[in-house]
Amino acid sequence: MQKAVESVKFSKPTAINKIILGDNLDIMRRLEEESIDFIYLDPPFFSNKNYEIIWGDEGEIRSFKDRWAGGIDHYITWLKERVEQMYRLLKPTGSLFLHCDWHADAYIRVFILDKIFGEKNFINQIIWHYNTGGKGKKSFLRKHDTIFFYAKSKKYVFNQDLVKIPRTAGTAHLRHGTDENGREYYEDFSPRKSGKQYRWYLDEGLTPMDVWLDIQAINPSARERIGYPTQKPEALMERIIQCASNEGDLVLDPFLGGGTTAIVADRLNRRWIGIDQSVQAVKVTDLRFQQHPEYFSEYTVQLHKYDYDKIRNDDPFDFQTWIVQQYGGIPNIRKVGDLGIDGKMPDGTPIQAKRSEDIGRNVIDNFLSAAKRSDSKLFAGNQKAGRPIGIIIAFSFGKGAIQEAARLKLSDNIILKLVPVDEIVPLAKKPAISVTVKEVSRNSTERNIEFTATANSDAGVEFYSWDFSYNEKMFKPDILRDTEGQIRYQFKPGSYRIAVKVIDNEGLEGLEVFTLTLNGKIKRTK
Ligand SMILES: C[S@@+](CC[C@H](N)C(=O)[O-])C[C@H]1O[C@@H](n2cnc3c(N)ncnc32)[C@H](O)[C@@H]1O
Repeated sequence: MQKAVESVKFSKPTAINKIILGDNLDIMRRLEEESIDFIYLDPPFFSNKNYEIIWGDEGEIRSFKDRWAGGIDHYITWLKERVEQMYRLLKPTGSLFLHCDWHADAYIRVFILDKIFGEKNFINQIIWHYNTGGKGKKSFLRKHDTIFFYAKSKKYVFNQDLVKIPRTAGTAHLRHGTDENGREYYEDFSPRKSGKQYRWYLDEGLTPMDVWLDIQAINPSARERIGYPTQKPEALMERIIQCASNEGDLVLDPFLGGGTTAIVADRLNRRWIGIDQSVQAVKVTDLRFQQHPEYFSEYTVQLHKYDYDKIRNDDPFDFQTWIVQQYGGIPNIRKVGDLGIDGKMPDGTPIQAKRSEDIGRNVIDNFLSAAKRSDSKLFAGNQKAGRPIGIIIAFSFGKGAIQEAARLKLSDNIILKLVPVDEIVPLAKKPAISVTVKEVSRNSTERNIEFTATANSDAGVEFYSWDFSYNEKMFKPDILRDTEGQIRYQFKPGSYRIAVKVIDNEGLEGLEVFTLTLNGKIKRTK
């Protein structure tokens, strides 16, 4: 299993909202028991046209074939293991919505949900009807998905009032009226036995049935569409999250995809965690948030690799604190006067962290005297017992330093551990990118410009993302996902700050920014 790598968006590192890259089974196993209020999952279905080919990636097609080769039993075993984790993570007041369709819904209900949650904790089987897709040659058209709603106990959240839908015109036996306050209602023609006549006020709304007919699937021209065929509509997620969780609750989507759950949970003031094993899904979600930074809370993105340049150029104190923690030590909170000791191991052994390459011999000498001065007894004890007297962490060590550490061990029985950063956290170089610009055509008001991006990446390119009005502080993509690296865009004459990002297979990003001036001739400047 690969280590998680975290990069903080929107400054504060304490944000709980997270997009995590990885197999949800591994990730969920590391999350705390009974820590989640609500879970929505939209797992890949047991179908021939599987979700995993959606991004057209060769590797993913292979993993699809391997995984489902064993048929429905395999699928159920695979999913059950994950739902067991979800059950463990849910608070006693928590609930879960599992989204599936005719391919596997019967199996999922009987072999997974009834087994794990218990039949008595079944709340609803929601039928979500839509008009798109659903071809059938010799059958009725398949026009619905099934969403199972199970709770962990009877104490689950159900905010009925928040999800009411407008009451529509009454049936023949109802009479329409308006009361003294101007409220519209329908009522029975004849009083009931009790003498009371029943009234339904229009503004009271109606609790939706378990058959949902009023939410459309995402059509090809929908504004919220991000080009992800299994993307679920925000309106659907809104109803689900609003009725089954409260503000401030922690919502988990272990099959995040294009991030709909996270976007809607955030908008509804829930905290959220989203997991997906596809770099594309993680980065598409990340960029979807970045399109509207003004609306959304802070969040972090956990990838498998850290960006070498970013860490190398981090604030020195932040770097020391972070790397000491990653190593399992306790960082020194004092910025100065610490004799060069940046932290300690739980047993007191001192740690120094250097944010540089090619550490020299002088660093060893200084650290040695600092370690002695900071706790001479511990130093002597460790020396005697043949334990490390201290640890130096750096990006790399020069020959002089390595030789000196070897000499100290051999002649003085002093063990000094030299630890390269990439032994603690996996590092990678972010992709490099360059862009060429060409005018394709123009008329009196508009200029059609073609951009071609070329990236250099060890990991391989996933996709590109374009921002045609970049403001230096925040990348807000106009074109979120471009897999070709070539795009045409219409401009009015003027000057534009343009930024293009390349996202590689590790989820690391390269950025190129330039100014394009379109008054008469095309001019490109830094
Ligand atoms: C049907 S899509 C989810 C679509 C999402 N509801 C949306 O609105 O965009 C399923 C997602 O599950 C992810 N996935 C499949 N197996 C996974 C696993 N073991 N761990 C994490 N994610 C997984 C896929 O990469 C895919 O993005």
